[in-house]
Amino acid sequence: MDPPEHDRIRRMLSRDFMVKSIDALRPRIQKIVDAALADLLAGPQPADLVQNFALPIPSAVIARLLGVPYQDHDFFQTNGRRMLTRSSTLEQSAQAVVDLREYIGELARRRREKPGDDVLSRLVVERELTGELDHEDVKSTGLLLLVAGHETTANMIALSVAALLRHPDQMAALRADPSLLTGAVEELLRFLSVVHSGVPRVALEDVEIAGVTIREDEGVIASIPAANWDPAQFASPGELDILRDARRHVAFGFGIHQCLGQPLARAELEIALRTLLLRVPGLRLADGAEFAPEKAVYGLHRLPVVW
Ligand code: HEM
Repeated sequence: MDPPEHDRIRRMLSRDFMVKSIDALRPRIQKIVDAALADLLAGPQPADLVQNFALPIPSAVIARLLGVPYQDHDFFQTNGRRMLTRSSTLEQSAQAVVDLREYIGELARRRREKPGDDVLSRLVVERELTGELDHEDVKSTGLLLLVAGHETTANMIALSVAALLRHPDQMAALRADPSLLTGAVEELLRFLSVVHSGVPRVALEDVEIAGVTIREDEGVIASIPAANWDPAQFASPGELDILRDARRHVAFGFGIHQCLGQPLARAELEIALRTLLLRVPGLRLADGAEFAPEKAVYGLHRLPVVW
């Protein structure tokens, strides 16, 4: 979506996703993380950290924020995954979009009668009923937030844990000084660059980049991992170094479409990692990790752990 339509819709959401609003959510995020950890620790070992920790946390948080019942998580997680994986056929991805849109549309219709304290209710009451947004836009926006809000962060949590367990010196440094976590999250975002499919764009006019001319109407894919692993920007980019200043990374994109949910993603990552590292000092990788290179957002299918 381009301006001015994009600016208009993005502005409608900015209040709910700004740093101040997300800071107010932190106690609720902590509760969700505590509950996920309690479930993980109560279960058998080895446990799958993806299904029992990394995925439930952002799913529960975005469900609560958006006003989607968390008990429907199997439905929205499965369809979200179908939308975003190359192992789906085009028909399967398209069907997943149709099913999720219908689901959000039904929730939105119910909010007309009975609004709650959530983003979907605010979109319906403050925007749809006032005529600023039509019902189709409410569905698209709800769908984008629901899917972007859990799949990306879930992959980041699981991959971050795997990366730190493979770098025990850095894990030890974080445990000794948890104030390093804020910087470590930026380095993990850079190092892992989970939106590895890159961001597709179409040139609006001829433009020259690094001596290459891209003509008007040509498509380009801007590669986030290539930018985040550019040795001209980050020395030894293939090394994880939680002490480096990685704040210039573009893991959340760049420009007007830069991730709306980044304050939320940062808060979730920080709280989930801090809680897991400090409360489970014996956490170790077990055999059987399954990476998921076919997903548009890089991640893991399974991450077996013991403690
Ligand atoms: C670590 C987790 C996350 C990563 C790495 C990530 C990454 C990205 C990237 C790279 C973009 C830009 C896409 C483009 O330019 O085409 C983007 C956009 C977006 N993200 Fe995220 N995201 C994350 C978490 C979230 C969360 C938690 C939400 C919450 C709802 C969210 C909502 C969005 C939305 C709505 C956009 C579109 C913004 C626009 O077009 O103006 N993301 N994200």
